[in-house]
Amino acid sequence: MDIPGFALVTGAASGIGKACALAFARDGAAGIALLDLDLAALSAVKVEIESAVPEQQNEDGGKEFQIEIYAVDVRNEEKVNAAVNAAAAKFGRLDYVVNAAGIAIKHQGGAAFAETSDWQRILDINLTGTFLVLKAAAKIMLKQDPILSSIDGRPLQRGSIVNFSSIQGVVGIELSTAYTASKHGVMGLTRSASEDYAKDGLRINAICPGYTETPMTTKNPAVLKAMEERVGTAVPMRRMGKASEIANGVIYLAGGRSSFVTGSALMVDGGYTTR
Ligand SMILES: NC(=O)c1ccc[n+]([C@@H]2O[C@H](COP(=O)([O-])OP(=O)(O)OC[C@H]3O[C@@H](n4cnc5c(N)ncnc54)[C@H](O)[C@@H]3O)[C@@H](O)[C@H]2O)c1
Repeated sequence: MDIPGFALVTGAASGIGKACALAFARDGAAGIALLDLDLAALSAVKVEIESAVPEQQNEDGGKEFQIEIYAVDVRNEEKVNAAVNAAAAKFGRLDYVVNAAGIAIKHQGGAAFAETSDWQRILDINLTGTFLVLKAAAKIMLKQDPILSSIDGRPLQRGSIVNFSSIQGVVGIELSTAYTASKHGVMGLTRSASEDYAKDGLRINAICPGYTETPMTTKNPAVLKAMEERVGTAVPMRRMGKASEIANGVIYLAGGRSSFVTGSALMVDGGYTTR
C-alpha cells in the first residue's frame, strides 16, 4: 500500500486502532508508535503484532521493524507532546499519524438530560485529543523532507494524518448528542487544518466508519443487541464492519495511494450514509 516510513497510532490498545497498527506492520511500515491509556494493554498488543508479523524487516531490507509503546491520555497536552516527540526522535521522522483514540456515551432521554460531564469528557477525548496529537505531529512533519514512494520513488508527502470521525460526523443518531458533535468537530478540524498545510505537503484526512465490531460496540450486550437490530434495516450491506476493514481505509488515506487526497472524508460504512 506504499507506506514506507514510520506511523503513530492512538487508541492502539483496542479495536480499530489495534487493527491499524497491525495493518501498518503487515503492509511494510518501518516502525510504529502505539499510544493508549494502559501500558499493560499496549504491551500485549505489541507482543501480538510481533508474533503476527515475525521477522519483519523495513523496506530497505535492513533494520528490524520497530514497535514503541507509550501510555498517554490524549487529553494531556504535555504527555502527548512528550510521546510524539519521543517517537519521532526514536524513528528519526514521523510519516503517518492515526488519531483513533475515542469513546462513545449514549445519553438516556436525549440532549435535554445529557450529563454535562459526559458532554465534556467526550469532547475532550474525541475532539481536543485529536487536535493535540495533530498539533504535535504536524510541527514535526512540516520540518521533514517528503518521503519517497516505495513503489516508484516519487516524493509523496511530508506527513499524512488520518483523524477518526464516524458516520456521526455527517449524520445524527439518537441519544448521541455529544459523540455526534465531537465527530462533526473532527470533520471541521480535518478540513480546516488540511487547508493550512496542503501546499506544504502535509495531508490531513478523516475516516468515517459505520457500525464496526470492536469492544466499543460489543462489550455491552444491550448496546450490541440494539446495534444489530439497527444494522439489519439501516445498513445496506446488512452487517457490521470489521476493524480490519476500517484499517484498510486508513492505510489507503495514510500512504502513497492517496497522494492527491487531502481534507477529505472516506466513508467506510457498508453504505449507511447513502440512505
Ligand atoms: N466501533 C465503531 O462502530 C466505530 C464507528 C465509528 C467511529 N469509531 C471510532 O473509531 C475509533 C476507535 O474506536 P473503537 O471502536 O476501536 O473503540 P475501542 O473502545 O475498541 O478503542 C478505543 C481505544 O481508545 C483508547 N482511549 C480512550 N480514551 C483515551 C484517552 N483519553 N487517551 C488515549 N487513549 C484513549 C481506549 O483505551 C481504547 O483502547 C474511535 O475514535 C471511535 O469513535 C468507531
